[in-house]
Amino acid sequence: MDSEEIQEDRMPKSTEYEAKHPDADGFIAYDAEEDAVWRDLVAQQMPAVQRHMAQPYLRGLDLLDLPRDRVPQCPDVSAKLGALTGWRVEPVPALIGFGKFFGMLADRAFPAASFIRKRKHFDYIEEPDIFHEIFGHTPLLTDPAFAAFSQAIGEAGTRCDKADYSWLIRLYWFSIEFGLMREGGEVKALGSGLASSVTELPWAISGHDSGGPERRPFDVIDILRTPYRIDIHQPLYFVIDDLDSLFAAARRDLLADIRQARALGLHAPAYPPKDAA
Ligand SMILES: [Fe+2]
Repeated sequence: MDSEEIQEDRMPKSTEYEAKHPDADGFIAYDAEEDAVWRDLVAQQMPAVQRHMAQPYLRGLDLLDLPRDRVPQCPDVSAKLGALTGWRVEPVPALIGFGKFFGMLADRAFPAASFIRKRKHFDYIEEPDIFHEIFGHTPLLTDPAFAAFSQAIGEAGTRCDKADYSWLIRLYWFSIEFGLMREGGEVKALGSGLASSVTELPWAISGHDSGGPERRPFDVIDILRTPYRIDIHQPLYFVIDDLDSLFAAARRDLLADIRQARALGLHAPAYPPKDAA
């Protein structure tokens, strides 16, 4: 397959949501309904999160002690993250390009969409909202291995050609967003896209034997060669043995890995063509 036939993104091309603008202290005004959506999302998601998410995520959730009844504020989350791993959360427009995205990760700034979904999108929204960004991502950024791996992807993104973005983003997608992790003989969910999805979290950890998704061992080259779609539950997940694997991946020459993956070519998609779905 021609590797340029498939161009994944990490978010949709357009959105009905508008960015909210922080005040001079970095705080954003959310109204009572927006706070209520946050409260109800957390209440709905927490039982599945406690049951299915891996310990690094759950430890981070405890450490951050996010508010349950209102949308968290980025400066408050940044103060806690900064003390733990040096990361911060910065509000960005609802959609940003790869160049800015990778540059911010390299600078240990997590780019966070500031709007929260409307009730009509309560269970599923294609673009990342602040529930996904804060509830999904920031607990993992309290972990030094996860934080170092996130920064390494950002740094690779600042050095690679634009044509390599769609290769590099697959590593982000299949680990930071949708990674699974082995834990005490079980497979748990690690990725942020799973932590914040009420429907995909149970799907992702359901066994292949019972009609669930395919699982493959975490392998950087294999991941770089694996296309994905952003708008469906993943048919395939990669399983990390432990966070040391992420530390090891953070030390790799990811640009050399992309060259190798390009030379080998993309795998055939594990998902149906978009118009057939
Ligand atoms: Fe995300």
